[in-house]
Amino acid sequence: MTDISIFSNRLRKNSRHWAKWAKRRNIHCYRIYDRDVPEFPVVLDIYEQKAHLQEFDTGWQISEEEHALWVESVRMAASEVLELPPAAIIFKQRQRQRGMAQYEKTGARGEDFIVHEGGHRFIVNLEEYLDTGLFLDHRNTRRLVQEKAAGKRFLNLFAYTGSFTVYAAAGGATRSTTVDLSNTYQDWARRNFELNGMDMTRHELIRADVFGFLNEEVKQGERYGLIVMDPPTFSNSKKMNGALDVQRDHTLLINQCLKLLTEDGELFFSTNLRSFQLDEAALETRQVAEISGQTIPEDFRNKKIHRCWLIRR
Ligand SMILES: C[S@@+](CC[C@H](N)C(=O)[O-])C[C@H]1O[C@@H](n2cnc3c(N)ncnc32)[C@H](O)[C@@H]1O
Repeated sequence: MTDISIFSNRLRKNSRHWAKWAKRRNIHCYRIYDRDVPEFPVVLDIYEQKAHLQEFDTGWQISEEEHALWVESVRMAASEVLELPPAAIIFKQRQRQRGMAQYEKTGARGEDFIVHEGGHRFIVNLEEYLDTGLFLDHRNTRRLVQEKAAGKRFLNLFAYTGSFTVYAAAGGATRSTTVDLSNTYQDWARRNFELNGMDMTRHELIRADVFGFLNEEVKQGERYGLIVMDPPTFSNSKKMNGALDVQRDHTLLINQCLKLLTEDGELFFSTNLRSFQLDEAALETRQVAEISGQTIPEDFRNKKIHRCWLIRR
């Protein structure tokens, strides 16, 4: 097995660099390690006083016992380097997932705690689900949304815990609608809204399948000045008709959003699917600009973490 000190040394170097970087920018949740040493295929994110350590499946063949020992040595190394108690280093194994599996519970209850970003507060939980409640790779995108929100009606599709809406409200959105299929995440979004003192009479939460929701809104002739749509790669919940496949369905989804945009309205469309190809020819607009260079934060060395476009009608 590879010497753990190789990992410790690299983590120490990265941690110093990114902690300084984050401090200058008043950032409290950020990525410090992303499979930098191939023998240690983990990703480590700081969430204030805790760390989220994910192991990526490389298909290595080792026994369960050896693996458990390896995981413990990595956790202990992280605890020592980051000067955090071992219990604050939350370890997860991340396998290739499809569909709703990725939103399932891990089995652990975990602890909800509050982190700060961009002057806002968000509830995260590093243990209960595979994801934490706040996707750090969209930190810049959230700021862009806040900057564009003044005086606009905002729509957040596939909203998860509603963090884009918190930013839009802070940026002066007059009203908003936050749509997600999951009761759990709608409830989490509501708690985030309350935590940030949002006026719940102007910011509505709708538990719905985005496909059905968009059809209704188009039929009703609704208009929005700003839309964020960040769909999962694949989803096949029992609560929706059929399945969602972002590669197959993105043109339908984007074209529906275009119908809801005001004259000067804008749509942020994002995906984490690595192999994604935007089918521009099938879109009912020519005003499409990829802005991933702006949206992917510096602390994400993996520059393919997501892709993002700004689309106008
Ligand atoms: C990748 S997350 C979106 C991340 C979010 N935009 C953010 O930055 O925090 C995907 C979300 O889509 C929701 N979802 C999946 N299929 C859906 C559907 N057909 N309609 C509405 N929401 C759906 C899931 O419940 C989950 O919260």
